[in-house]
Amino acid sequence: MDLEKYIDKLKAQFLSCFNINLINWENLKDITWDQQELILKNVIENELNKKFPIRRSYQLSFLKKIIEYFELNNIEIHDRIYERFCALNSTPNKEENLAYKHYLLAQNDAPISLKESKSFVAEGTTGLCSWQASLLLSNWIINNSEKMNNKTILELGAGTGLCSFTALKCCNPSEVMITDGSVKVLNLLETNLINNFSNLIEIKSESNYSKYSLKDGKFVSTFLLQWENIEKLNLDNIFYPNVILAADVIYDSSTFTSLCNTIDYIFKYMKYEVIMYLAATIRNSETVDEFLKILGERDFTAEKIAIESDKQYFYWDNTTPIAIYCITKGMQ
Ligand SMILES: C[S@@+](CC[C@H](N)C(=O)[O-])C[C@H]1O[C@@H](n2cnc3c(N)ncnc32)[C@H](O)[C@@H]1O
Repeated sequence: MDLEKYIDKLKAQFLSCFNINLINWENLKDITWDQQELILKNVIENELNKKFPIRRSYQLSFLKKIIEYFELNNIEIHDRIYERFCALNSTPNKEENLAYKHYLLAQNDAPISLKESKSFVAEGTTGLCSWQASLLLSNWIINNSEKMNNKTILELGAGTGLCSFTALKCCNPSEVMITDGSVKVLNLLETNLINNFSNLIEIKSESNYSKYSLKDGKFVSTFLLQWENIEKLNLDNIFYPNVILAADVIYDSSTFTSLCNTIDYIFKYMKYEVIMYLAATIRNSETVDEFLKILGERDFTAEKIAIESDKQYFYWDNTTPIAIYCITKGMQ
């Protein structure tokens, strides 16, 4: 085993709160005392976690799993692992609703640190945490960065904004507009944007629409875009997207017509010179088929993208399958 590589992977999984049951613990089988120190230093006591802590309950489960694994395999447990567990366990459980997740990118790119809700549904919305489809789509974006270069990107139902932030950090789009239909989600998005890009220069700040420039010449904006209202919005002179991104937005069939109207509207508005990349978690294939059928009735083509050989930057739980579709219509 290449311990350095294993620790790097464990660090990325820990900091992004990857499903503990899917972590490969077997590599700890022959671990020495010194190697346990390395794991403590690089993973559990990582500077990012000290500064912007991930969920306390996740840290406790992670440590508990390590302790159980060591006990089961008769490995002497490092004192500091116990100490860390006890210290965390005895800190008052403040349980604020938000905690950090950190997504480590390629070596030269600063990580994306997102404040997220600890629950999948909070304050009446699903948008306050990153969903598995956004991890897969973000990973795909890095592996296909040339598709984002010099593009103006619009993200629909962006939630915490992970895909847009990834495109901004790891690709060269000229502009990214990050949108969501919930004001609460948009507020958290704005906080995360400011925390992750220290070099923002504010150009516009209106209620529900902010625009910034970055030092490297890119532009980024956040915008309240409710799919039901697409026809009432005046996008003229605001934005001309030629790539649309969306992750985990097709789960509630009551929104399909308005979402398809939005996609249709943008394609028409851009004279069909648009490509959409949609990541969908296939919880129920009938729901996804229903959405694709509506798109098909409007003459859109949706092709599933093959993603097997992508290099892995993000770690997601694919116990429930996730697919990325490339959606086009008319002239390309
Ligand atoms: C399951 S979350 C996915 C968030 C993010 N894309 C991700 O994958 O982590 C669905 C997102 O769609 C947004 N959404 C749901 N219905 C919407 C609508 N009618 N108009 C605009 N956004 C909507 C929600 O606010 C939420 O942020």
